[in-house]
Amino acid sequence: MASLAEPHLKVQDPRAVSADILFIPVFELDPLDDVAWADEAARGELRRWVDTQAFRAKPFETAIVRLEGTGAPYAGLVGAGKRSEWTLERLRRVASCAALTARQRGWSRLAFLARATGLDRADELQAVTEGLALATFDPDSLKTAARESIALATMAVVGTAGDEALEERVARARVLAEAANLARRLANEPGNLLPPRVLADRAVAVATEAGLGVEVLGQPEIAGLGMGLLLGVAQGSAEPPRLIVLRYEPAEAPAEGSPVLGLVGKAVTFDTGGISIKPADGMDRMKNDMTGGAAVIAAMQAIARLRPPIRVLGVVPSVENMPGGRALKPGDVLTSASGKTVEVNNTDAEGRLILGDALWYTRRLGATHLVDIATLTGSCAVALGRVASGLFGTVGWWSDLVRETAAEAGDLLWPLPLHEEFLEQLRSEIADLLNTGSRWGGASSAAMFLKEFAGDGPWVHLDIAGTAWSDETRPWQPKGPNPVVTRTLARLAFTSHRWPR
Ligand code: BES
Ligand code: MN
Ligand code: ZN
Repeated sequence: MASLAEPHLKVQDPRAVSADILFIPVFELDPLDDVAWADEAARGELRRWVDTQAFRAKPFETAIVRLEGTGAPYAGLVGAGKRSEWTLERLRRVASCAALTARQRGWSRLAFLARATGLDRADELQAVTEGLALATFDPDSLKTAARESIALATMAVVGTAGDEALEERVARARVLAEAANLARRLANEPGNLLPPRVLADRAVAVATEAGLGVEVLGQPEIAGLGMGLLLGVAQGSAEPPRLIVLRYEPAEAPAEGSPVLGLVGKAVTFDTGGISIKPADGMDRMKNDMTGGAAVIAAMQAIARLRPPIRVLGVVPSVENMPGGRALKPGDVLTSASGKTVEVNNTDAEGRLILGDALWYTRRLGATHLVDIATLTGSCAVALGRVASGLFGTVGWWSDLVRETAAEAGDLLWPLPLHEEFLEQLRSEIADLLNTGSRWGGASSAAMFLKEFAGDGPWVHLDIAGTAWSDETRPWQPKGPNPVVTRTLARLAFTSHRWPR
């Protein structure tokens, strides 16, 4: 287990902090006034590194300096870049980079000096804590031989002053990062080890531990609700479908008349494409086609721990999309729980089918404000690359609020259009809707399909097909599942005071 250590705030003279290494973020042309003690302990080495430009403090550049007479025998300098470009996200990543460096080099007791960098102090401490905790994610959990890096034993966020409010923010950061790492662990698990049955068991375990209400609907209950879209996708697989419902119901939120946040996440535990089968190249990656569902389960865990003042529903439809003798065929017509009929012209457009029934059901359960999250279209990844997730919405203020919340959480969202014209692509000759439009604007026609099931009232759809996974190792994050939207969803539950009534 690599995620045993959790960052804690340590209010202490940094000279006295006992650790294997103390990381210090350093800006370009940094005057280093507040860390003169470290320069002395390094016999002037620190300033020399900076002044001679041997260490230029470019973002995520690292250097190790020997210290004497301090609790930590080494200082780790981490480049923070230009002061003029400094943001909380940069700080988060600098902290992650420090923790990953320690893990790679085998230093298990880490301290990070939370220098005052001109941003809000509580925000700074939250960002450092999140960054350190995110770096404990272990992508090697199935390796029995040598791992790439060690687990951290202790992580101290070193500050020179602290109070209850700051402690609270550090604790909050731990909860958010731990939830994001839970979602990453789930997304990283292969299809054979995490079919819908097992994902549902995991959700039940999370709910039980966190004190959430939980209900798992199986095949008969799903059929009883008339969810023909969800059943249609599931029918080709030997693995039965599950519809996972998580409930957070604080005593202070009345059951009638108060807003209810509904989070809906696509959880296709493996997407072969079905009869419209995908090419072999890269198909293995489709084990992560449940990242949206994982983010919802994980966000519900964080919400249960952080206790926002509103009710929240987490709904996760889960299936395996397989070809086979019983599988859905192109041209088949399904009847949704809402009553609308759908001609399935492409079985690889399965996410919108299961979400159609799930969105309708989440409204029926009483959700007033909806967000769905899905690895939905390659088209969105083409449009926004690996950088931003697609944001679609029908109500301007709700889309804006989701986007602002995401920016604070460290998730980049970019708006894409939902014009009525995109619906023309989904006209069927024999049913109410086709499930698949043309190649052009594929992310928007997919979102238009969802809109048909999202009901009235605020709804946002997030397409994370491009952002759920990273094929490259970056200084602040290993390749593999990204911490995507979990923190945004949890934070959104704390914005209800800004929702118009
Ligand atoms: N899960 C995929 C989308 C996806 C593609 C996610 C690449 C991550 C990386 C989704 O179910 C899918 O297959 N979408 C199709 C839709 C098409 C058939 C209209 C796509 O995007 O090609
Ligand atoms: Mn698909
Ligand atoms: Zn899919």
